[in-house]
Amino acid sequence: MSTAALAIRHSPTTTSSSFFSDHSGSPPALNVNTLALLDAFLCDKADQERRFNELAAEQAAARISGLALDNEHCHDEEHEEEVTKPSPISVAEFRLAFGEDWQLSQFWYTEPFANHLARALHTLCTPKTTIAFLCCPTGFVAFQHLNHLPGAHLLEYDQRFAVVSSKQYTPYDLDEPDVFPEALRGKVDVVVVDPPFLNEVTNTKIAQTLRQILHPTRGKLLLITSTSIEETLHKIYDGTPTGPLRKTKMVVEHRQLSNDFAAWGSWEGAEDFGLDSTTLSLEEGRDN
Ligand SMILES: C[S@@+](CC[C@H](N)C(=O)[O-])C[C@H]1O[C@@H](n2cnc3c(N)ncnc32)[C@H](O)[C@@H]1O
Repeated sequence: MSTAALAIRHSPTTTSSSFFSDHSGSPPALNVNTLALLDAFLCDKADQERRFNELAAEQAAARISGLALDNEHCHDEEHEEEVTKPSPISVAEFRLAFGEDWQLSQFWYTEPFANHLARALHTLCTPKTTIAFLCCPTGFVAFQHLNHLPGAHLLEYDQRFAVVSSKQYTPYDLDEPDVFPEALRGKVDVVVVDPPFLNEVTNTKIAQTLRQILHPTRGKLLLITSTSIEETLHKIYDGTPTGPLRKTKMVVEHRQLSNDFAAWGSWEGAEDFGLDSTTLSLEEGRDN
């Protein structure tokens, strides 16, 4: 899908004249190759929509059966947990249902990287950890699929992600940095954030949120972004708990971005975080 989309958007050979078959006055026609790309793109879009609707229906069914059980077993938290919690989707399933929306600067990680990130993050957590993923849905999905934590939260602008886990999703807009669930104030042990835009204003707003939700002493920040703004990052994320930033060993991989990305951690020893990520591709292979 995305390859087709990229080819249509960026192919240097796709000039307006090459779209038209002739100058005979007949209606303009796309050439066969362009039509094939368009067809593949539309098929992928339709598949994504179908899978998204299935996920939404599964969530709704889980909620309804949870409510029914609530009525039968009032305050039976053990049962509630078993039934209302749909099994977390995998990164592969997520990718089938959620296309990247480039207007929102959505560029998903590769599946091996997302899973590697999840494993590394779990080494920082206990079953009681509160962890928040800001602007990082693939990270949340991989983390929860590997080992579901009740204290994991996804704060995201794109409300499609409520379907992944309605109870753990919170709408978040970095343009309203002081708007977040009050229950998270000063309570978050680990934050993972991948800002949508590579500039100072975006990071300043996000840092404003982070300083309010991170636990003031034990809070840890993992910031994943482009190395092109590294200097600015050190100025913004400067004091505990958001800094000082240390560049980790994580080798960040996206499906569609060739920008040089990296990950920085705010805690002592963060330099070794993701140490084995260099062997990632050999272990698991690249998905694309
Ligand atoms: C660069 S992507 C990071 C995604 C990450 N690579 C992944 O695979 O999960 C940035 C994320 O920021 C979100 N976003 C876009 N505009 C936003 C806004 N105004 N406030 C908060 N998040 C926003 C996008 O929906 C997207 O998920």
